[in-house]
Amino acid sequence: MKILITGCNGQLGTEMRLQSVQHATHTYYFTDVAELDILDKAAVETFVRTNGIDLIVNCAAYTNVDKAETDEVFAKRLNAEAVANLGETGCRIIHISTDYVFAGDGCEPYREEDVISPQTAYGRTKYAGEKALMAVNPEAIIIRTAWLYSAYGNNFVKTMLRLGKERELLKVVYDQIGTPTYAGDLAAAIYTAIESPVWHPGIYHFTNEGVCSWYDFTVEIMRQAGISCRVEPILSSEYQYQTPRPHYSVLNKSKIKQTFDLTISYWTDSLTHCLKELHEL
Ligand SMILES: NC(=O)c1ccc[n+]([C@@H]2O[C@H](COP(=O)([O-])OP(=O)(O)OC[C@H]3O[C@@H](n4cnc5c(N)ncnc54)[C@H](OP(=O)(O)O)[C@@H]3O)[C@@H](O)[C@H]2O)c1
Repeated sequence: MKILITGCNGQLGTEMRLQSVQHATHTYYFTDVAELDILDKAAVETFVRTNGIDLIVNCAAYTNVDKAETDEVFAKRLNAEAVANLGETGCRIIHISTDYVFAGDGCEPYREEDVISPQTAYGRTKYAGEKALMAVNPEAIIIRTAWLYSAYGNNFVKTMLRLGKERELLKVVYDQIGTPTYAGDLAAAIYTAIESPVWHPGIYHFTNEGVCSWYDFTVEIMRQAGISCRVEPILSSEYQYQTPRPHYSVLNKSKIKQTFDLTISYWTDSLTHCLKELHEL
């Protein structure tokens, strides 16, 4: 197949690029905004037609949750209109969405069919993207994920490693519960869907296994990296958030595991993998 990976310089896009060598029977076209701006519908159509693309993995997105609050119109263009541009090409498409489509006030892992109720501009634009894509390309695969990190780009793990080395004390919220997702594991799951002999359209949830708070995540980062910084649990109400964050983001992954016969790594094991990549271990 000829596979287009958009947003290839981001966290997930980079992992898709690195792992493509293990799936070398396909021809890949890796693009980021400089090579193919997915907002440019005509450019997308031309690129897909000229190169005979069969499948698109959309790793491009507007991912800045705080900035989206004051920039919702543009965020929606990128997270919804541009996604429809990709879907309208008629290619098979795998698109990534987020736990932010849910209210985040639950107490049981969210299933794919649970009530949607985004509480932030980012969540609204990502949900608009899901709907826009399904409307133009009902055969699409949409994978919702959460708490994404990798050795590349900016993310929680890299920020905490830096702060842990700079400071003696870090105060981190313990009343927001979710599951970290190592982008390398998500990329591997996407390749499993690509290589599957049967195309299984629909919405799926993917994170690593297990559950933790941001506080637990930080303690584990410090413990594994051997950083002696003290970590103290605080409540969300004690932290100045620009945008309210979900208290509960755990996703139920039964569907993706059953459909694609996936075994998913426990979050602390995947953290070890990432820290090795970052030469912290
Ligand atoms: N990060 C998380 O915690 C998280 C959680 C849940 C779901 N997700 C979803 O997971 C997916 C991957 O996230 P990520 O963290 O890998 O994102 P990322 O690191 O922010 O990467 C997104 C990439 O898209 C590029 N891009 C921006 N505008 C573009 C355009 N018009 N055309 C083409 N490319 C464009 C960005 O370039 P610039 O950097 O130059 O803008 C960047 O390289 C996204 O759909 C995101 O919504 C992420």
